[in-house]
Amino acid sequence: MTKSYTINQSKEWTGKEVTLKGWVYNKRGSGALVFLQVRDGTGFIQATAVKSELDEKIFALAKDITLESSVIITGVCKEEKRAPGGYEIGVQDIKLVKRSEEYPIGKKEHGPDFLLSYRHLWLRSKRQWAIQRIRNEIIYAIYEHFRNEGFIKIDSPILTPNACEGTTTLFPVPYLPDWKDIDGENWKSEMAKHLGKKDKELPFCYLSQSGQLYLEAAIMAHRRVFDFGPTFRAEKSKTRRHLTEFWMMDAEAAFVEHQENMKIQEGLIVAIVERVLKNCVKELEMIERNTEPLKPVLKGDFKIISHQEAVAIIKKEGQLIGERDDFGAEHETILSQKFDRPFFVEKFPKEVKAFYMKEDPDDDSRVMNADMLASEGYGEIIGGSQREDDYETLLGRMKALNMPLEDFQWYLDLRKYGSVPHSGFGIGLERIIAWVCKLDHVRETIPFPRMMERYRP
Ligand code: 4AD
Ligand code: MG
Repeated sequence: MTKSYTINQSKEWTGKEVTLKGWVYNKRGSGALVFLQVRDGTGFIQATAVKSELDEKIFALAKDITLESSVIITGVCKEEKRAPGGYEIGVQDIKLVKRSEEYPIGKKEHGPDFLLSYRHLWLRSKRQWAIQRIRNEIIYAIYEHFRNEGFIKIDSPILTPNACEGTTTLFPVPYLPDWKDIDGENWKSEMAKHLGKKDKELPFCYLSQSGQLYLEAAIMAHRRVFDFGPTFRAEKSKTRRHLTEFWMMDAEAAFVEHQENMKIQEGLIVAIVERVLKNCVKELEMIERNTEPLKPVLKGDFKIISHQEAVAIIKKEGQLIGERDDFGAEHETILSQKFDRPFFVEKFPKEVKAFYMKEDPDDDSRVMNADMLASEGYGEIIGGSQREDDYETLLGRMKALNMPLEDFQWYLDLRKYGSVPHSGFGIGLERIIAWVCKLDHVRETIPFPRMMERYRP
């Protein structure tokens, strides 16, 4: 065997002497036996130290070792049905790499604020480990699915001159590539001075809210494209679904209309769930996710209801909502409990959706859009639509909305030079993870969450 041992290879190493390099995450024992729970990044295993079989010093070390100390343990890897994970290491030797100070995250219950302040350490805990593994699997599922479906990955920019999804959630950034010329240790105050020009002269750009508009340019070169990257929204919402920095995958396709757009989304969600159920059995168990409610997803055939039908359902449940209102989190939760798998709500009133959506030919007060809502109460996971491809219609709409036309001239150009019907959608990675893992809040889905009240650590 050329590869050195890691916990995830315990099966192949059964009966052999191994060197385990990792961290002690838990410990229990009596006078004669110490059970060390060790993690090495690839998994978790029990290492058993037996007093009668060990040098006195080694046993004393096992007994005294502090949680999260880094260690190199030598011993024989054995199958052990009673041990968590099914394998254990019979300790022969322990080398301390570095003794840990008293670890702030203990066995007692900690509040979310405490844990988020220690996110840099919290990431090590079993549940958080499993969630990040599932996140990784979902990312790969998306890449693989799109590759199979003939989509090219196009990287859209993060610094942008204009809003994609409305101006209310824009994150402004002073655009000063030459700020480095500002000398010395007082750069902050110098920069403030630099910024103290007249308001209108301030060079601001914005962090991207979605790469969609750029993908619309790219489809005219590559037909089917997607991007995947961080997006930013100055959200005033303190809900379990909102982050200020989140990862979005936008997809866009030429010659695709509203109905086909939804079929592409359905295919993607089926592929994601299929892959997680296949490759993340252990992780889903660790977070105690009952996978039964995910199985109907594999059948596809997601239902499509209209915005009007959705409003009727919400009203029937006794909630207040206007005929032409957008949905709030509580409305989405109600709808989301009515279906056993994700479903679409289509054709929203024009005034509650973005400027680029194509009018419904049957009702010009509505658009050819669809939001995909997840089941089990999770609400919106995808937003998508057919795009307005007619120059005059789009220009008219932008003028009516008082949009800064000079910043969008490039986007309007796409309707001048060989415009085609096209559609696309954006999927929020953290929303997908929260639903697949059945988490209470999106903050656990991302390594270092940024929310309205937090951008540390
Ligand atoms: O529905 P949204 O705003 O759609 C767009 O941005 C389109 N330009 C996408 C496109 O057509 N290419 O955002 C898309 C998805 C939502 O459905 C949701 O899953 C997620 O992004 N999302 C958020 N996730 C976490 N925190 C937030 N503040 C989010 N805002 C949107
Ligand atoms: Mg949306």
